[in-house]
Amino acid sequence: MTTPTIELKPSATPLSDAERQAILANPGFGRHFTDHMVTIRWTEGRGWHDGRLVPYAPLSLDPATMVLHYAQEIFEGLKAYRRPDGSVATFRPEKNGARFQASSRRLGMPELPVETFIEACDALVGQDEKWVPAHGGEESLYLRPFMIATEVGLGVKPANEYLFLVIASPAGAYFPGGVKPVSIWVSEDRVRAVPGGMGDAKTGGNYAASLLAQAEAAAKGCDQVCYLDANERTWVEELGGMNLYFVYGDRIVTPTLTGSILEGVTRDSLLTVARDLGYEAEEGRVSVDQWQRDSANGTLTEVFACGTAAVITPVGTVKRTGAEWQQSGGEPGEVTQRLRAALLDIQRGTAEDKHGWMHTLG
Ligand SMILES: Cc1ncc(COP(=O)(O)O)c(C=O)c1O
Repeated sequence: MTTPTIELKPSATPLSDAERQAILANPGFGRHFTDHMVTIRWTEGRGWHDGRLVPYAPLSLDPATMVLHYAQEIFEGLKAYRRPDGSVATFRPEKNGARFQASSRRLGMPELPVETFIEACDALVGQDEKWVPAHGGEESLYLRPFMIATEVGLGVKPANEYLFLVIASPAGAYFPGGVKPVSIWVSEDRVRAVPGGMGDAKTGGNYAASLLAQAEAAAKGCDQVCYLDANERTWVEELGGMNLYFVYGDRIVTPTLTGSILEGVTRDSLLTVARDLGYEAEEGRVSVDQWQRDSANGTLTEVFACGTAAVITPVGTVKRTGAEWQQSGGEPGEVTQRLRAALLDIQRGTAEDKHGWMHTLG
């Protein structure tokens, strides 16, 4: 398949330097978008075509567009960081590109070549480079590639037309006041994904399914939901938007990928970073009863969640039906903080990138 090139049709009216600086002074997360977006079309028989970088603008969709009815949609999330020398780099974009292809296969959508995925991200970051926050803090430019079924018509089937887009949003530090542990509600009656379902695909439906459980967690006074396996309601899977790690002294364990867990890029990177730092790092099964017991007997020394948005988030209070406990005294643990700093240093370009994870632009 030929790779479409991306034609640059930049905006004649981008935001002024002053307007952009005002946004970058306090970007929050997902509230502001850069001046441009990339779009690439796919139609049956023709494949990928019409790659363009155009001004950021609303989409016009027929009310019968298939994605609006049958949710044939996938997305990704990755970050571009400013490096100490002023250049910009994204973190392991080829992993996100490969996961995007895996999500496409699960949802019956065409696969965008990984090199085109990266080219589209590069085109947008290159054009909107001034939107990448300065080096120094944890700020970044968050990239959101996604694809929707654009065929018009009702009837459940894979669409014969798709639109791939990349948009970008400046992201402030996740913890502006210093790293703070999250509280977790372990849901024993709602599940996020089932064996044979689409839990390992990054598709909007999984997040729609998580909203009620998230509201229930909030009602219990918790920040996040932890999901268990659907069959036995025993084995810890992940949070609504982050993977989990359990720290047993010098050994860290993350739940084995079973098909119902999203394969996080951060999760994967931490297996390597942890080994580089001399920890034992492995995949395994951890039950919620074991979590509670090992926390109480002190062998489970820390628990943390990980994902692109926060990199690493310590877990503090844990609640389940009939029980509540404080992990690590409710304070960020030493291993958690060490791993967080090590990965962030690679991402921000202040530590050696010995695994070749950073993709520098230009
Ligand atoms: C359900 C879920 N699990 C885990 C993750 C962490 O994945 P990553 O490290 O690739 O951001 C995310 C975020 O992308 C997610 O939405």
